Amino acid sequence: MRVRLRDVGLEVDQAGNGRPLLFIHGYPLNRSLWEMQLNGLGDTARVIAPDLRGHGASDPAPGPYSMDLLAEDCAHVLDALDAAEPAVVCGLSMGGYIAFAFQRLYPERVGALILTATRPAPDSSEGKAARDQAMATAKEKGVDAIVEAMLPKMLSTKTTASRPDIVERVRRMMRTTSLEGILGDLAGLRDRPDSRPGLGDIRCPTLVIHGTDDQIIPPPEAEAMQAAIEGSKIRLIRDAGHLPNLEQPDAFNAAVREFVTAL
Ligand code: MLT
Repeated sequence: MRVRLRDVGLEVDQAGNGRPLLFIHGYPLNRSLWEMQLNGLGDTARVIAPDLRGHGASDPAPGPYSMDLLAEDCAHVLDALDAAEPAVVCGLSMGGYIAFAFQRLYPERVGALILTATRPAPDSSEGKAARDQAMATAKEKGVDAIVEAMLPKMLSTKTTASRPDIVERVRRMMRTTSLEGILGDLAGLRDRPDSRPGLGDIRCPTLVIHGTDDQIIPPPEAEAMQAAIEGSKIRLIRDAGHLPNLEQPDAFNAAVREFVTAL
């Protein structure tokens, strides 16, 4: 369905009933990342998966896309769907940075957090320079140059070698991101705040999920994040890289179902 915000229309998928379970995709992906969760978790919760602005079938808009702006968009999506109950907010990678922003802006709207393939730290100075370089590449060579540079790092070595269907699916998914979306994200990613100081203040039930073969965010970073969030749990998923929900959907869905059911 289409949700109209003040300046953009966002495309949103929904499945199931009950407690809202908001899935926020990463960069430069779209809501189809969550297809196996929309199909597999509708018995557990009301699954809601938007395309962020500039991604998938949502409208592009000029950047920068701060993590706060993207979190505000997610809150408007929940409002438009009358999902007033505190949500389980699950963000993957950039979606996790947005989940941190959502939690800071609307703590009363967060029933629980699922932090997938993400980190609380901001970009280092080298990381910021790499974002600027990627913006220059995107402007000069287009979206495909970004897609082909990122693709080899997105999946585990095993998935890349043995699942050409998943590799192709991720390539197609990334190609739907508009140039404005890529540039908006990169500026927002480069300038995102440090979420580490707030980890000790997170009071809601929290589950960290991470692939053991994540080449973009090494698992020790996820373990350190989990150790800093009181009462949180971690689930490491074997033979998964940066997209554990897509590479190992059964293990991912089982972890989410167990966590949500126990709330
Ligand atoms: C993502 O998957 O959202 C990105 O890898 C996040 C990042 O580049 O920091």
